[in-house]
Amino acid sequence: MRLQGAKAVVTGAASGLGEAVARRFHEEGARVVLADIDLEGARRVAESIDASSRSAVAVGCDISRESSCNEMVQAAEVFFGGPITIFHANAGTAFSGALLDAEAERIERAIGINLTGAIFSAKAALRSLSQAGEGSLLFTSSLQGVLGRPQRSVYTATKHAITGLVKSLALEFGELGVRVNALAPVGIDTPLLRQQLSRTTDDVDGRIRDMAANLPLGRMPMPRDFTDAALFLASSEARCITGQTLVIDCGASAGIREPRPSKPAA
Ligand SMILES: NC(=O)c1ccc[n+]([C@@H]2O[C@H](COP(=O)([O-])OP(=O)(O)OC[C@H]3O[C@@H](n4cnc5c(N)ncnc54)[C@H](O)[C@@H]3O)[C@@H](O)[C@H]2O)c1
Repeated sequence: MRLQGAKAVVTGAASGLGEAVARRFHEEGARVVLADIDLEGARRVAESIDASSRSAVAVGCDISRESSCNEMVQAAEVFFGGPITIFHANAGTAFSGALLDAEAERIERAIGINLTGAIFSAKAALRSLSQAGEGSLLFTSSLQGVLGRPQRSVYTATKHAITGLVKSLALEFGELGVRVNALAPVGIDTPLLRQQLSRTTDDVDGRIRDMAANLPLGRMPMPRDFTDAALFLASSEARCITGQTLVIDCGASAGIREPRPSKPAA
């Protein structure tokens, strides 16, 4: 029970990594608000966590609209009866394909959710976290928050921006007792990843196996690996850690892998 007494909000909690984090924070003793644009989905998850709605509740929110983020935080404060202590700005969307083929609307949507939405939701949450006098603000970045990748230009730009946002907010809110960090995972098997891969292959399972085989550790992180890291950064065990982006990538960013030599060195 590493989060006993915590009051946690997770965005994008109707699915994938956000759902996994909300479940894990609750298992560790936190009361949780599951915020998502998919209110029905968030309700299903919240009810499966706590059918009585005493310790887990869903709130509808479109993070790309500032007023919606403010309303979400107000609803969370009413539910908790006080300020938020953990906020995980996790909701995000994919962007893949050649930049030259991307319509303006698709580019603006990816930026509106992944960057503007992360900023609006963090801004709303920081007012509350600052009042608590201690708090942890987490973002879900990506390996594309620290490394480039072809066919992912706009996504990469939005996630790199999160890395800078984390550093600046860590400096701005440290004296108010709020720690600010990000998690940067390589591909994890979630609906978002499957949807993205299905744009370029009919064999999504095969692609996921290949992705795992190509990582230095020969495996891909599971949602549990992501929630282990989120739990650590959210908890008091990370009390001296702020401004950091923690990469969860099975070694992908460690360097360039070369093929094994085909004959022993002479
Ligand atoms: N799965 C991966 O491989 C992977 C890797 C690196 C980073 N990420 C990041 O992890 C985060 C979660 O991704 P996931 O894989 O769990 O995806 P997912 O599609 O399973 O879940 C994303 C959730 O965000 C919600 N959402 C989308 N737009 C929203 C909006 N405007 N307002 C509120 N909620 C909104 C969706 O309804 C959905 O429930 C994203 O920020 C993504 O960029 C995922």
